[in-house]
Amino acid sequence: MINQSEYKFKVSASGRVNIIGEHIDYCGGKVMPAALSLKNTVYVRPNGTNFINLSWTTLPDTVSLDISRLDSYKHLRYGNYQAGSAYLWQKAGHKIVGCDMVQDCTVPFGSGLSSSAAIEVSTIAALATVAGEGFDNVEVALTAQAAERQYAGVNCGIMDQYASACGKKGMAMLLDCKTLQCDYLPLDLGGYAMVITDCKKPHNLVESKYNERRQQTEQALAILKEKLDITCLADVSPEDFQKYSHLLPGVIKNRTEHVVYECERVKRAAEALRNGDILTLGALLNESHASLKNLYETTGFEPDVLAETAQAHPACIGSRLTGGGFGGCTISLVKKECVQQFEDYLLKQYRQKTGYTAVCYRADIDDGITVERI
Ligand code: GLA
Repeated sequence: MINQSEYKFKVSASGRVNIIGEHIDYCGGKVMPAALSLKNTVYVRPNGTNFINLSWTTLPDTVSLDISRLDSYKHLRYGNYQAGSAYLWQKAGHKIVGCDMVQDCTVPFGSGLSSSAAIEVSTIAALATVAGEGFDNVEVALTAQAAERQYAGVNCGIMDQYASACGKKGMAMLLDCKTLQCDYLPLDLGGYAMVITDCKKPHNLVESKYNERRQQTEQALAILKEKLDITCLADVSPEDFQKYSHLLPGVIKNRTEHVVYECERVKRAAEALRNGDILTLGALLNESHASLKNLYETTGFEPDVLAETAQAHPACIGSRLTGGGFGGCTISLVKKECVQQFEDYLLKQYRQKTGYTAVCYRADIDDGITVERI
């Protein structure tokens, strides 16, 4: 337990779900994430030293980071995300002061709900706050993304950190990853609830598989740029794709097909949400999952069982794997009055088919960064 009164500020940032628009943020596409009430919270106070002292509510470890050599902590088992975030914020010209930080994370690790973005974003916001500086949420998101790329070695897009920093209660975000223009749409699902289910399959090599997908989209862009006046893969229309897809080698063609049509699905999903047409939104989730399974190949046996078992349930109108993939969570749109029955059925069927015990999380759509003076 933390004695909150010993700290000066309580700074939180959210995990996220991505409703639709998967693996297109780094292609300059529009994505539709939403920030969750599952968060990383940092309790912080200045300590007058040259060190950032880290501790956790859920770990026995403590770690001290020397402010004058923040670039040297990549190897840390715990604390590397915080060190990377502090390092990149310092490198961007911001003041870092010595402080004690307790980290309390309710975003499950490795669940595809962006615990790492929540840690990076909340750490930067806490460092800025304890140094007496204000911060711009978008700059925090961009710096957190740089930390993930340069320090953690995942060549990620901007979606997770942006959602973690700039999410709004009750709102889906329609984020244009090319311009960083963001519209907020009320996430009003009518008679449906969003169920989040973690397949709990341990996954590995996620970073290298992720980086490989990203590299394949870059290869596709280089080829199509020869023919089309485009700056990113999301600029390719379905018509252009039909016309030039023969230029793309096998697997690269599949990856591109996913990107092009996923961008279309996001447009249709935003329209459906604006019109309160939740059935169409559900159908788009199913299409997105099938595309990730067959074309982008970022799902896997267990996530497919989880999404497809959900899809076959009569109370469920759509289900897909959310986030980077190769494991993690599905989101399912389920008739409100049937949620409990749906969850029981899904968890039981999944255990029978895979041998793993999945978990459903209860979470609301919430604000991104919050800062409280204690
Ligand atoms: C991870 C990355 C994001 C995004 C998703 C896939 O969560 O951090 O930038 O690419 O995968 O949509």
